[in-house]
Amino acid sequence: MGAPTSAAKAISPFQKLNDRLAGIAPGAAPVNLGLGEPQHPIPSFVGPVIAANLDLFGRYPAIRGTDAFRSTVAAWLDRRYGLAASPIDPETMVLPLNGSREGLFFAALGARERFGARERATGIERPVVLLPNPFYQAYAAGAEAAGLEIVLLDAGPETRFMPDLGLVAPEILARTVALYVASPTNPQGGVARLADWTALIQAARRHDFMIFADECYSEIYRSVPPPGVLEAAAAIGAGFANILTFHSLSKRSNLPGLRAGFVAGDPAFIAAWTRLRNMAAPQVPGPIQAVAVAAYGDEAHVAENRALYNAKFALAREMLGAEEPEGGFFLWLNVGDGEEAAVRLWREAGVRTIPGAYLCLPSAGGDNPGRPYLRVAMVQDIETTTEALRRMARVLG
Ligand SMILES: Cc1ncc(COP(=O)(O)O)c(C=O)c1O
Repeated sequence: MGAPTSAAKAISPFQKLNDRLAGIAPGAAPVNLGLGEPQHPIPSFVGPVIAANLDLFGRYPAIRGTDAFRSTVAAWLDRRYGLAASPIDPETMVLPLNGSREGLFFAALGARERFGARERATGIERPVVLLPNPFYQAYAAGAEAAGLEIVLLDAGPETRFMPDLGLVAPEILARTVALYVASPTNPQGGVARLADWTALIQAARRHDFMIFADECYSEIYRSVPPPGVLEAAAAIGAGFANILTFHSLSKRSNLPGLRAGFVAGDPAFIAAWTRLRNMAAPQVPGPIQAVAVAAYGDEAHVAENRALYNAKFALAREMLGAEEPEGGFFLWLNVGDGEEAAVRLWREAGVRTIPGAYLCLPSAGGDNPGRPYLRVAMVQDIETTTEALRRMARVLG
């Protein structure tokens, strides 16, 4: 674990899939289980809230967001993760994001800047970002833009896909500016336990790097709410230094097109990063922030959403024998050769899925850990999903 990667660059898995399927006609009316774009109904309050705040489209939004946005988010985090004893300060620990993707990308630039003094003092040539493999492509894009070396970490089912930093060479940890880690993980649906978060936080503080915890699937779980990185930090009791958590309404509230999310955590990082964001990052429009205030104040639509996913995972168990993941909305199926299966599903059944290899980089030895797998996004309505699963059962045998 922890060996530098090959020089391969991450490419959007959707682009790769388009290229691979080009010229192949679908064997039936297409069903898209490739893109992780929730197709459940959007909450009924979205339209009225935008209408009531329409005038805010006439103003440039501030990068720090509205007071209402930050205090609503801080209160939601305190409730969700039991932070009453060390609450989130809405003034210094929260920023709105135009969806979590841009925040995850920009965070790498902030981490590189944060590392700058140490880089100059120690003459370290190539600072490192640690990524579990597979990973969400925006992490690699951020690392690339910030000129960081990507080091891939093995993280298998035995650790719920969480990396063990005890296995990473000290020479690499000394150069590390940040670790990206998701929980629930995309694509496997693994969920970090509090002890996993605690170990990662302790390592990050020992070596003074940032943890970028991608918790955008935190509300999509089968029965037990995933513990969060802030919860683990609160239990340690030394504040939120070295930690940022990224959240989004895209999955929680079926609003991928709204582009609303937030980041919370380390106030020193947020203060420095705000300088950069103020000049370059996309702001979140006022009416969109108003929707977010309504969405983080309502759990009923989120519970309904979870119930829909749970019903579809029950169907997948029945029809494909697939095990439900603990969190998230993907099936991660071992089919022997994910790319071959994806092409066959498209050609013979019109079902679009993503080969696992497209979500990974080859490790130092040249192996691609995603090769045997197929990612299936369970994002369509029940009827469409049932039809797609029927076709998949036929093709995959
Ligand atoms: C693991 C992971 N992180 C972040 C995102 C970004 O989501 P958004 O920018 O819509 O919040 C996605 C989207 O699919 C994702 O799968």
